[in-house]
Amino acid sequence: MEVVVCESAEAAGALAADAVVALLRRAPEAVLGLATGSSPLPLYDALAGRCDAGEVSFARARGFTLDEYVGLPADHPERYRNVIDTELVSRVDLPADAVVGPDGLADDVPAACAAYEQAIADAGGIDLQVLGIGTDGHVGFNEPGSSLASRTRIKTLTHQTRLDNARFFDDDLDAVPTHCLTQGLGTIMQARHVVLLASGHGKAEAVHQMVEGPVSAMWPATVLQHHPHVTVLLDEPAAGRLQLAAYYRDTYRAKPAWQGL
Ligand code: F6R
Repeated sequence: MEVVVCESAEAAGALAADAVVALLRRAPEAVLGLATGSSPLPLYDALAGRCDAGEVSFARARGFTLDEYVGLPADHPERYRNVIDTELVSRVDLPADAVVGPDGLADDVPAACAAYEQAIADAGGIDLQVLGIGTDGHVGFNEPGSSLASRTRIKTLTHQTRLDNARFFDDDLDAVPTHCLTQGLGTIMQARHVVLLASGHGKAEAVHQMVEGPVSAMWPATVLQHHPHVTVLLDEPAAGRLQLAAYYRDTYRAKPAWQGL
């Protein structure tokens, strides 16, 4: 796991954008895994700028969203498939029909989840998966207690996650869905490169556990310690509880530029 402590969330987003741009230049048909929430916004802003500047094209790329709320109407602005349109698809040259997400309105949830896994496999798997992390250590919506081998399925959101996400629903906790469909930890672990962004003090404990804690379903992101290619991009507050922060800084400072992320 490579840990990079950046001077700001924007600087972390710019580094993540470097990784996406480099991937699309060498593999224009790359498959991207797309998280929502606040954490990836600096990345999506940077990608919009680079696409505008002609530095990268998404025209042949494809995307799979990480998760989806259950039961939000198709036109709800917080439905994650719509959020991705707003934050990324509409700002780059990625065709809208090249991005799909789990069907949060499916009648047959197990069938919809199995179809989503199949769609990812049929696309050849995810080349680069963008992740955030919850204050309780979830990735996707794999809440504490999730199987470390889980696949796409329905999950119940914890009270903490619903509190954290109420800000997207006018601070109305009752408006936050109680369930979601999410790629499983086993699904995420099959992505070829995982780029996780975290910013702010609120993420510091989850980041510490993910990078330095024992692997445990109580902190689901710790499963990433078993992944061969994870890049963790942090701002200073999110890195605030890392025991080996000085070592990560030294390592990154000494890294040859040609290595990339
Ligand atoms: C979003 C997702 C979640 C968020 C996490 C952090 O698609 O899967 O795991 O990444 O809840 O959310 P933010 O970035 O809003 O703090």
